[in-house]
Amino acid sequence: MKYNFDELTERRNTGCVKWDSDNDPDMLPLWVADMDFQTAPSVKEAVMSRAATGIYGYVRVPDSYYEALTRWFDTRHGWHIDSDMVIYTSGVVPALSAIIKALVKPGEGVIIQTPAYNCFFSSVRNNHAIEIDNPLKRIETASGFTYEIDFEDLEAAASRPETRLLLLCNPQNPTGRVWTRAELEQVRDICRRNGVRVLSDEIHCELIHKGYEYIPYATIDPEAVVCCSPSKAFNTAGLQTANIVCPDTGTRNLIDRSINENEVCDINPFGVVALEAAYNDGGEWLDALNTYLEDNYRYLRETLGSAFPQLRICDSQATYLAWIDTHHLGISSDNLDKLLRENGKVHINSGTMYAGDGYMRINYACPRSRLAEALRRLAGILKTL
Ligand SMILES: Cc1ncc(COP(=O)(O)O)c(C=O)c1O
Repeated sequence: MKYNFDELTERRNTGCVKWDSDNDPDMLPLWVADMDFQTAPSVKEAVMSRAATGIYGYVRVPDSYYEALTRWFDTRHGWHIDSDMVIYTSGVVPALSAIIKALVKPGEGVIIQTPAYNCFFSSVRNNHAIEIDNPLKRIETASGFTYEIDFEDLEAAASRPETRLLLLCNPQNPTGRVWTRAELEQVRDICRRNGVRVLSDEIHCELIHKGYEYIPYATIDPEAVVCCSPSKAFNTAGLQTANIVCPDTGTRNLIDRSINENEVCDINPFGVVALEAAYNDGGEWLDALNTYLEDNYRYLRETLGSAFPQLRICDSQATYLAWIDTHHLGISSDNLDKLLRENGKVHINSGTMYAGDGYMRINYACPRSRLAEALRRLAGILKTL
């Protein structure tokens, strides 16, 4: 095997949110959304060679950065981006927050499709906007369940006079849905009809399971604002680099101003070279990663499914996050999370964070043997309930 995702990396005592926050040497963390794998070899080499210069002053983002970004999305995803549509910033969350600040006045509404990534809620709140929920519809399937957009409810939410923006997640965290072209067209039509802009967070767009296709929302709706980053796929979240793509000059100027007001207009030299290496040379590694992740997902389903037939597991189409229904256990998600940590020494995410009490989220982006041990611990606690 060319890339060894089975390698047991050591992240304890490295100043790591996922591994060092619990202050417990026995804890196995399956929470924060980063991976326990090394990044792609090309990315590691680029960062090491940049580090070797010993000079880490302020960065002027070079043309080669935009070339790498635009070529990748053009060739891999059929999305043509002009360099001058791009604003770089220090993360997707800083991007979302600045965009909301630019486009939504205090007291105006932002639609969030729940369950949703927790920072969606805080970004809306921190910018004094109003959260308007458009809960996803749960659909039972032969193998578990999935979600669909409730378009009737979306129309009602979009038609409220205070609604300005829909915060779309494509593909969706935590449900792992990859929105289809038909779904995205319907989103566009509803939002257009109601004068609501779409802000699409596409940070998970490279982590697509076989048989599904990521459709860049901007190819359906060129008026949208899109955020992307190589950070989830290439495990470079700590390098804090993300991009906003906004074709409309007037809107882009507003966003640019708010990126400056929030003082998140600088990125660092390692983020720049990492992005270039990821997008220029990371494709083969990424394909191998996706195969490994899908095998992990299958393993998780088989292991938990055979031990606990009542446990319903969401049919994931993307990401490395499993979304699991725990309602039948009769315990709140927060209490289950606490119990798993205290008695099982395994740290998952409580569904409550995502407006999904009665669910848990498991990050399975780790070597399989570690996942096996974490699931063994999880099963040990579930059996007692
Ligand atoms: C949907 C989504 N957006 C944004 C982020 C975080 O982005 P960043 O680290 O670039 O701020 C995450 C991290 O899990 C995420 O799932």
